[in-house]
Amino acid sequence: MIISSANDYREAARRRLPPFLFHYIDGGAYAEQTLSRNVQDLSQVALHQRVLNDMSQLDLSTEIFGEKLSLPLALSPVGLTGMYARRGEVQAAKAADKKGIPFTLSTVSVCPIEEVAPVMHRPMWFQLYVLRDRGFMKSVLERAKAAGCSTLIFTVDMPVPGARYRDAHSGMSGPYANLRRYAQAVVHPHWAFNVGLLGRPHDLGNVSKYLGKPIPLEDYIGWLGKNFDPSISWKDLEWIRDFWDGPMVIKGILDPEDAKDAVRFGADGILVSNHGGRQLDGVMSTAKALPYIADTVKDEIKILVDSGIRNGLDIVRMIALGADMCLIGRAFIYALGAQGEKGVTNLLNLIESEMRVAMTLTGNNTIKDITRDAVVDYDKLSSDAKAAMERRAAQVAQDK
Ligand SMILES: Cc1cc2nc3c(=O)[nH]c(=O)nc-3n(C[C@H](O)[C@H](O)[C@H](O)COP(=O)(O)O)c2cc1C
Repeated sequence: MIISSANDYREAARRRLPPFLFHYIDGGAYAEQTLSRNVQDLSQVALHQRVLNDMSQLDLSTEIFGEKLSLPLALSPVGLTGMYARRGEVQAAKAADKKGIPFTLSTVSVCPIEEVAPVMHRPMWFQLYVLRDRGFMKSVLERAKAAGCSTLIFTVDMPVPGARYRDAHSGMSGPYANLRRYAQAVVHPHWAFNVGLLGRPHDLGNVSKYLGKPIPLEDYIGWLGKNFDPSISWKDLEWIRDFWDGPMVIKGILDPEDAKDAVRFGADGILVSNHGGRQLDGVMSTAKALPYIADTVKDEIKILVDSGIRNGLDIVRMIALGADMCLIGRAFIYALGAQGEKGVTNLLNLIESEMRVAMTLTGNNTIKDITRDAVVDYDKLSSDAKAAMERRAAQVAQDK
């Protein structure tokens, strides 16, 4: 198969992975409205073409939290990455490291912190969920610190897990799930041998180390469901702020008031995200929400964004809409599922080339040069977002 984009990797991953895994990656919550809006809305942001400006000296590098990055990009935390390729977190981390960008390890990774951090030359980023078991949170943060992790991405948009209908149909959950997964593995021998057999142990590496016993895939959804904490509020985060002395980013911000709260709380960054459309279906895409959030808190806090980014043009769009840097989830997971480390490396190179074209033809030599002028109608995009959020706030006030 000829691969020239993240979409091609999606198709290649669909062919290689058992359906229960492909749909777990590819799917979103409920009717998947937000999942498709993320991609659609972003692709429709028109770039502003400029020509004849001597663009021979492009510089795509940037700096965030004192770290130098070759591109304004990091890999998003993705749970169970070690199920999509053999010891998948290690392979993805190596590709990110070689490219000079951060890799973020999920709380619910297959490979534990201690297996992944040492394969990188730069510090790993670590993602933490708010869980009922605060003892686990403390201990995993201590381990992240000991492994030299620099930035903590604190995910706050999962106080309860959103329902994903595809998982029940595909065999990820639902009736006879074990049996259906086994049947799918039999007809995907490449995956069955490389990952199913040679990629063991298949458990939540960070959690099982803490509990002293494995949490196998069968118990994953149950463990998550029992451990998310719907009572969480800003106050509960304070001990983490005191405990973690490195940069801390709040992941899952989609509203300017929440962004202001993150500034007041003393976070170093926000990650504008709707979890890739995997949590509350029907919420705004990040491309729509970002301009108004950026108008509200730009220069007070670092703004990171993910959800819907599939290529280098999208990264230029997001930076023009107010982000300091971007993260990608599915795009790199498709590449990893299809071709392992080699796939992620190739994808990152494709993204770099796409960014070069977009920067050249919008007349921006450096990342700092990319402003709202790189997109057509920034003011309209921002005021549309503002109007939509005000309408919603008025509705909420009326309902009360
Ligand atoms: C299969 C899968 C698993 C994910 N697991 C996590 C996770 O463990 N922690 C987290 O904060 N976000 C998780 N996310 C969300 C990503 O970090 C990110 O926000 C999202 O994928 C961005 O959207 P995109 O896939 O359109 O790039 C996951 C996403 C996917 C696709």
